[in-house]
Amino acid sequence: MAQHHHHHPTSKKSISLTPTSFLFVSLLCFASLLLAFSLFKSSQNLHYQPLSHPSCDLSDGNWVYDPTVRSTRYDHTCKEIFKGWNCILNNKSNALEISKWKWKPRDCDLPTFDAQKFLERFRDTSIGFIGDSLNRNMFVSLFCMLRRVSSDVKKWHPAKADRGFTFLQYNLTIAYHRTNLLAHYGRWSPNTNDGALESLGYNDGYRVDIDVPDSKWAEAPSFHDVVIFNTGHWWWAPSKFDPVKSPMLFFEKGIPIIPPIAPDVGLDMVLKHMISYVESKMRPGAIRIFRTQSPRHFEGGDWDHGGSCPRLKPLLSQEVEELFDVENNGTNVETRLVNHHLYKALKGSSFHVLNITHMSEYRADAHPSNAGGKKHDDCMHWCLPGITDTWNDLFAAYLNIVKDQS
Ligand SMILES: *[C@@H]1O[C@H](CO)[C@@H](O)[C@H](O)[C@H]1NC(C)=O
Ligand SMILES: *[C@@H]1O[C@H](CO)[C@@H](O)[C@H](O)[C@H]1NC(C)=O
Ligand SMILES: *[C@@H]1O[C@H](CO)[C@@H](O)[C@H](O)[C@H]1NC(C)=O
Ligand SMILES: *[C@@H]1O[C@H](CO)[C@@H](O)[C@H](O)[C@H]1NC(C)=O
Repeated sequence: MAQHHHHHPTSKKSISLTPTSFLFVSLLCFASLLLAFSLFKSSQNLHYQPLSHPSCDLSDGNWVYDPTVRSTRYDHTCKEIFKGWNCILNNKSNALEISKWKWKPRDCDLPTFDAQKFLERFRDTSIGFIGDSLNRNMFVSLFCMLRRVSSDVKKWHPAKADRGFTFLQYNLTIAYHRTNLLAHYGRWSPNTNDGALESLGYNDGYRVDIDVPDSKWAEAPSFHDVVIFNTGHWWWAPSKFDPVKSPMLFFEKGIPIIPPIAPDVGLDMVLKHMISYVESKMRPGAIRIFRTQSPRHFEGGDWDHGGSCPRLKPLLSQEVEELFDVENNGTNVETRLVNHHLYKALKGSSFHVLNITHMSEYRADAHPSNAGGKKHDDCMHWCLPGITDTWNDLFAAYLNIVKDQS
């Protein structure tokens, strides 16, 4: 960290201290101590475990069934819920049960999102969700919770977002910027005979510019006060980026990287560039968050090979390990692998990590599955209302911690 906070008490020696100014100076000293302390803390360890209070890790715990909970956050009539995620409307048999499980951190309680308080506390604030459809799923949850208590909403596209809303009474804006890889990418095909990739025999693929942010969000970091990123699902998607028929071909400074690199190496490079892009564009006080990977729960095959998620209750710890332990190399093995890449890239950055992976690993029961009649079961997105509501509990708890410290 390049900032140093030297205090020069001697420079104040000419000030005569009346009781009021003494109080003022002490307050100043106290405030700068606090500031220095919080900077120290954030540069030391708060970066990748911001959600740990000193004594409580909010992302470690278990789900407790509480039949008295009715989903009062919002219901299936929220217009922003994507049709396929509306499990109540689609008659998923356990749709109303999903929200009756409450996340209980091991050593404390996670407060339930309070929409009214959130609107008041984050007045004049703009929050951008940047990532794939799983970040949209979380964005929709936040929208529906806020919309329930404040209906004077302007719909627009802040900083080229795909979707965005301002809650006018509070001037609180939330936006969703869709981007699959964070980096810019597009179809690639050969066009010269002496190109490096052409001479290696490539004749189709996707060009991924590791150092160019997707235009959908390039303006977001300088626009929003809070950004929350994710990426991961598309990096392990051979049905889209077939390693043989349509591989990812990475470019740096407009030139193909030779020899070509594997997607997981490309992911590291993209994360490195995108993180430093965000750090260079955001205002100093702005809050940067990276959300960890959302787990899928395909059992009996991958999504396009008959995989399904028929469970009606959360998994037991032992089942979670069987399904997600990297050693077992199961269908959803990417969940924890992606996180390894994220942690590596975020270490030493100014990003905070919103760690939702483990709590979500339990929730095999909370995906849309086959409700609503789809060609393939959806064991990747989440029913709404559902567990992205809990992600937002965590998000709000975290924002409150940051706000309390500032
Ligand atoms: C995320 O939370 C889980 C559960 O507490 C933990 O096992 C994992 O190590 C955490 N990851 C990080 C980087 O804190
Ligand atoms: C859900 O059930 C209702 C009432 O039985 C029915 O009218 C509706 O068509 C069903 N919806 C779907 C998507 O199957
Ligand atoms: C509304 O909030 C934005 C931040 O999202 C801020 O830049 C702007 O000044 C606010 N507008 C008013 C009228 O306070
Ligand atoms: C993991 O499983 C996949 C197929 O399910 C296989 O192609 C791959 O080689 C396995 N990887 C390891 C490290 O065992």
